[in-house]
Amino acid sequence: MAKKKRARAKGAKKPARKPAKKPAKKPAKKAQSKKPAKKPTKAKAARKPARKAPPRRPEGPPPGPPQMPPEMLLMQGLFGFMLTKGIGVAATLGIADALKGGPLYYTDLASVVGANQRALHRVLRMLAGYGLFAEPKPGTFANNAVSELLRADHPHSMAGMVKMICGESHWQPWGMLEHTVRTGRSGAHHAFGEEIFTWFQKPENKGEWDVFNDAMTSMSLGQAPLIAASYDFARFRKIVDVGGGHGHLLKQVIAKAPNAQGVLFDMPDVVAGADLPGNIQREGGDFFARVPEGADCYMLKAIIHDWSDDHCRKILRNIAGAMDPGGRVLLFETVMPEEPGPHPAKFADVNMLAMTDGGCERTPTEFAELFASAGLQLVGITPLPDGWTNIVEARKA
Ligand SMILES: C[S@@+](CC[C@H](N)C(=O)[O-])C[C@H]1O[C@@H](n2cnc3c(N)ncnc32)[C@H](O)[C@@H]1O
Repeated sequence: MAKKKRARAKGAKKPARKPAKKPAKKPAKKAQSKKPAKKPTKAKAARKPARKAPPRRPEGPPPGPPQMPPEMLLMQGLFGFMLTKGIGVAATLGIADALKGGPLYYTDLASVVGANQRALHRVLRMLAGYGLFAEPKPGTFANNAVSELLRADHPHSMAGMVKMICGESHWQPWGMLEHTVRTGRSGAHHAFGEEIFTWFQKPENKGEWDVFNDAMTSMSLGQAPLIAASYDFARFRKIVDVGGGHGHLLKQVIAKAPNAQGVLFDMPDVVAGADLPGNIQREGGDFFARVPEGADCYMLKAIIHDWSDDHCRKILRNIAGAMDPGGRVLLFETVMPEEPGPHPAKFADVNMLAMTDGGCERTPTEFAELFASAGLQLVGITPLPDGWTNIVEARKA
């Protein structure tokens, strides 16, 4: 125990030292270098930005802490919620949809989306400065690869996910993060007095539940084709998507397994809202009580990370008891690296902390232990090229 504590304390010092040293050196060198004085020839001046241009046109923020002075890095962290709210407002106003036809000056854009001109300009200039929209000329805004994802009609639209993260179901629990860290109970518990899925089921929260389900589909738009193309589903006879939402993933998977029967299993009101082809049947139920019998493939996307180990064991034991002996369990999850360093799973994990009682992103070791405790055995983990999704495969032990 003492060793672990020391190791952690050492690890914690490193990131604090690095940004303090590097930025302090770099600007100093640049300031003293003679390079600015050597700019006279036009050819040289023209060549230089051309070489530097590609890394300066990011499609999103670079992974990991930016190299900047400590004060600015701290401010960047504090500014984070302003980006979140700004993105949320841009999605709600439909800015990316309005820019579909090309760039617009902010006054024109304001009248298209029904916003105050100056206020809209100020928010968009902040977002564009961070690379979330383009601003080709001062005050003129255009879509870039990031803002395109906010369009409702984009094939991989993330507009639903944005509305959920920026909506009440998430904003209120996140406002309770201090209570969560002090007590270990979810922000949903502190904000709503109950577990998030119970809260979602109340008739008065139907609007937020719809937003949640749209967000799940929106996340699947990009993941589903990737998953369907990355695994040999054609070898299965019966594929059950446990907690499969509205069936977006299962439809793509079944298209790759023409001889398989699909079963969409989720809560009754969720499967009732799904639009399904003839080779997928719907089944409403509670995965803590049972799952459909006799399949050779059970898929669970973004399910296991919602729940504590005890809850997950119940779901996985139900599957182990229901599956064909040679069958497979496929989890599609982000995987927490065992090592320190930047990774989106570390954000997703705190989201699980804020939103759920016991949900978390798990390391390969934790997945292996969880499977073993439920009568299953980890076969392997395959990371997909989106940098987020992994296929975590298991079979009966
Ligand atoms: C995070 S969403 C994932 C949905 C889908 N797999 C996806 O990735 O788009 C969790 C899903 O679990 C379902 N769910 C929650 N509790 C459940 C339960 N006790 N029994 C069955 N499904 C449940 C929810 O309705 C929701 O569709």
